[in-house]
Amino acid sequence: MEFSTQTTASLHQIKTAALAVGVFTDGVLSPAADVIDRAGAGALRAVTKTEFKGKSNTHAVLRDIPGVSAARIVLVGLGKQENYNATAHGSAELVFAQYCAAAGLTEGVSTLASIECPDTTLRTRARAAASAGTRAGYHYDATLGKSREAGPRLRKIAIWTARGQAAEAQQGLSEGQALGEGINLARMLGDLPPNVCTPSYLGKTAKQLAKQFTTLKAEVLERKQLEALNMGSFLSVARGSYEPPAFIVLKHTPAGRRPAAKDRKAPIVLVGKGITFDSGGISIKPAANMDEMKYDMCGAASVLGTLRAVAQLELNREVIGIIPACENLPSGRANKPGDVVTSMSGLTIEILNTDAEGRLVLCDALTYAERFKPAAVIDIATLTGACVVALGNVNSGLFSKDDDLADSLLRAGRAAADPAWRLPLDDAYQEQLRSNFADIANIGGPPAGAVTAACFLSRFTSSYPWAHLDIAGTAWRGGKEKGASGRPVPLLVHYLIEQAN
Ligand code: BES
Ligand code: MN
Ligand code: ZN
Repeated sequence: MEFSTQTTASLHQIKTAALAVGVFTDGVLSPAADVIDRAGAGALRAVTKTEFKGKSNTHAVLRDIPGVSAARIVLVGLGKQENYNATAHGSAELVFAQYCAAAGLTEGVSTLASIECPDTTLRTRARAAASAGTRAGYHYDATLGKSREAGPRLRKIAIWTARGQAAEAQQGLSEGQALGEGINLARMLGDLPPNVCTPSYLGKTAKQLAKQFTTLKAEVLERKQLEALNMGSFLSVARGSYEPPAFIVLKHTPAGRRPAAKDRKAPIVLVGKGITFDSGGISIKPAANMDEMKYDMCGAASVLGTLRAVAQLELNREVIGIIPACENLPSGRANKPGDVVTSMSGLTIEILNTDAEGRLVLCDALTYAERFKPAAVIDIATLTGACVVALGNVNSGLFSKDDDLADSLLRAGRAAADPAWRLPLDDAYQEQLRSNFADIANIGGPPAGAVTAACFLSRFTSSYPWAHLDIAGTAWRGGKEKGASGRPVPLLVHYLIEQAN
C-alpha cells in the first residue's frame, strides 16, 4: 500500500475513484462535505435530508455529481458531533477503506483526517487513516485452497490536508502503515490453524522478522535450555504435547549512535502468551467452540506484530519481546490437578486446574524478564473467560499497581481506538490463591477470575513496573465474522511511540 497527502486547495477538482467526506448525525456536513455539496449544487444535502443521517459505521455513495471530479463521493457517517473522538474517527476511516476494498477500487482519497477531534492531532488522525487502509487490505487465504479468490487490490490512499501540514500528515501516515502491517501480522498468526501455527512456527516468524529488519535480533530457546533455566512451570505445560516448546526472545535495538550508557533508557519488555492451542489439558474444555482456542496465542502474535511495527518505525527505544510458546493438551505426560511444580522464581505452584495454563507459562517468562532491568514489563494474554464476562469485546482488561504506567496505557488505548479498562489488583484478592501444599495455587475459584489471574502474575513481577493486559475478549471475534482483530497492537504501538519521543 502507498499513502500520500493531497494538498489541492479545490476539493471538487480532485480526480479519484472515491473521495470520502464525513457527515455527522442528523446530516450535519463536515467542512469538506460542505465544499463538495456547494460544488455539486446541493447533491449531498439532498441525500442527508432524506436517506443518509450520518450514523456511525454507515456510508452512502453518490456517483458522477456534476461539478465534482471524483467519480464517487463516499459519505461516511461520523455519529454525533459532540461525541466525535479518536475512536469514531478510526472507525470512519475503516468504513471508507473497507468500502474501497470491497468495491474493488485500487485507490481513494479521504478528507476525514482533516476533521478536528479531541485528544488527537493531525499526526494521530493520519496514523488512523493509514492503519485503516492497511487493515482493509488484509486477506486470509493461506489455507483456503480452491476457494481462494483473486481480484483487484486497494493500492493507494491519499489524505487531504492543508499544504503547511503535509509533513506532519506524512509522518502519521508512515506510522499508520507500520502499525497496520503489525496488526495484519498479528491477525494472520491468530487466524492460521493450530496445526500450522505451532510454537516452532512462531519461532520461525520471529527469525524471519529479524532477517527482514536490521534492528531486530531473534533467539529461540529450546527445551534443554529451558530446563537449564529451571522453567519448571512453563515446561510442565509444554510436557503434555508432542510439539516442542519455543521460548522466543525478539529484541529491537535502535540503530545509529548509541547514547552514552548513562543516558540510555532501560528497555520496555513485552511478554506474550503463546499457547498455540488450549484444549484445557486434563481439565479439558467442552467441545463447543474449542477451535477458537487456536487464538490462545494472540498475546504472542501481538508482541510479534508490535515489534514488527517498532522495527519498521525505527523507534528510538529498546523494546524486547518475550514469548513462551507451547500447546496445552491432555496426555500421559500432561499436568494433573494436584501436581506441584517449581517455577523459575523458586515459588512452588499447586496446579488445581490444568486449564489455567496461561499464568503457568507467563510466570517463568516474567521471571526471565528481570535480566533486562526493564523500565516496564507489559504482558499480553488471552488469560481468562472471566475477563470476557466482565468487559465483553469492547475493552481489554488492564491491571497494574503502577498508576503512571496504567494511565499511559489507557491513554494510548483511547488515542488508538483500542481501549482498555482498568480492573483492581488489591492484595485482598491474593487470599484466594492460598494453597496447603505449595507457595501458591494456580486458581482462585469463581469470584473475580480475571483479577485472581492477574494476582497470580503479580507474584512474579516485584522487581520492575508491570502491567497486564487480558485480551481474552478483544483479540478475536467469534461467529460468522470469525477472525483475529490484531488488538492490542494499536494500543502498544501508540504507547511505544510515546515512550520513544
Ligand atoms: N485461554 C483460556 C482463557 C479464555 C477462555 C480466553 C475463553 C478466551 C475465551 C485460559 O487458558 C483458560 O482456560 N482460563 C480458564 C481459567 C480457569 C480455569 C480459572 C477460564 O477462564 O475458564
Ligand atoms: Mn486454558
Ligand atoms: Zn489458555
